[in-house]
Amino acid sequence: MPLQTPLLPLAQVLQQRRDRLAQLYPGPVLLWSGQPTPRNFPANTYPFRANSHFLYFAGVPLAKAAIHLEGGRATLLMDNTSPEAALWHGATPSRDTIAAAIGAIAAYPYSSVDDYLDGAATLPNQARSAGAPAAAVANFLEALVALRLYHDDYALEQIKAAAAVSVAAHRAGMAATPGATTEAQVRAAMEGVIMAQGMTCAYNSIVTVHGEVLHNEQYHHGLAPGDLLLADVGAEAPSGWASDITRTWPVSGRFTPAQRDVYAVVLAAHDACIEAAQPGVEYRDLHLLACRTLATGLVDLGLLKGHAEDLVARDVHALFFPHGVGHLLGLDVHDMEDLGDLAGYAPGRQRSDRFGLKFLRLDRPLAANMVVTIEPGFYQVPAILGPARQSGQYDDAVNWGRLADFQSVRGIRIEDDVQITPTGSTVLTAALPTRPEAVEDLVHSP
Ligand code: GLY
Ligand code: MN
Ligand code: MN
Repeated sequence: MPLQTPLLPLAQVLQQRRDRLAQLYPGPVLLWSGQPTPRNFPANTYPFRANSHFLYFAGVPLAKAAIHLEGGRATLLMDNTSPEAALWHGATPSRDTIAAAIGAIAAYPYSSVDDYLDGAATLPNQARSAGAPAAAVANFLEALVALRLYHDDYALEQIKAAAAVSVAAHRAGMAATPGATTEAQVRAAMEGVIMAQGMTCAYNSIVTVHGEVLHNEQYHHGLAPGDLLLADVGAEAPSGWASDITRTWPVSGRFTPAQRDVYAVVLAAHDACIEAAQPGVEYRDLHLLACRTLATGLVDLGLLKGHAEDLVARDVHALFFPHGVGHLLGLDVHDMEDLGDLAGYAPGRQRSDRFGLKFLRLDRPLAANMVVTIEPGFYQVPAILGPARQSGQYDDAVNWGRLADFQSVRGIRIEDDVQITPTGSTVLTAALPTRPEAVEDLVHSP
């Protein structure tokens, strides 16, 4: 599936971003790409991924490069490939060729960064002593967040391209399940699709029958007919733009009644949030909507006791849904979380330390051209439920005995990528079904 042609040539897209930055923070700014980290000898490196803030303004995943921005003008700082490097890695475009392609006005060797450092705002983790004072850096970061929160058309096209490949990967994972005996085999089927499209994974894949381990990165378990398989796998386009999808499906191709019941509760929360997502809506309120919807469903199933509002106020829902309903998506899967909560939390807001809110990564009003994930879940995490039951604190709110009926439901998450539009929202990953019958069909007959 070819990448869609961006609406503007790359250099113009990048220039628009640099001009918009200059309106908010004229500069100077110096951003580094980073460089590969050797494993044991210099030529054997860990996979390299250029820094996302660099990518946002430089557009191409260069290594050992920096970009200097001032008043909308870009200067590229990087070395030409040496003849020796070309012997091993092949010829690469020259510094001047790359500079022209990305619209930089000048290009100099990498060693010139020292000449450009004076007074330049840098990222906190790239800070150098001669850089801008702290107050200026704070202003720069505020401007950076203001730009990167709202995606331009090029970025949206790239996210859609990545999302389309993720959808294909999930379909392949479902189709591969009947013939697979381990999580690793399903993972291979999914990542194979991503690799074959010339993309990479935007994060370490989660493909597990132990979905209760939220970021499970082990793939050795066997697949048993009664298991649910939770797959959280997302492609990243060569340009760096990410996608992030989770589906949960029955290994046998048929949900058991208990699995179907809980799946329906998670899906109700997912659908309610997507239905409500539009400009002006507080993302925190979507999270609370998911919490209430889950609590209502779990009361209906006899797992919780009481009124949803009260249960959520006491964070009882968080025993089974201990994370936030999603996050920003962009050049990174948790976009801009390298800046702490600067992007995720509106100015003046801070994370709650409440059990049911402390993992909420986004607390801002939604606005057009933000892309967020919606990913409610239900998990039976022994490390949470064991002590909670032991404490007796929730005996009036949790029907502990009823949990035995849902033993086979260790973890369910349903995650889609949602673009906020001027009048509502668009699910960028809608081509991948969420209805349980449709998911079953994909496992049975791709
Ligand atoms: N893939 C990580 C997440 O969903 O947040
Ligand atoms: Mn996510
Ligand atoms: Mn995910």
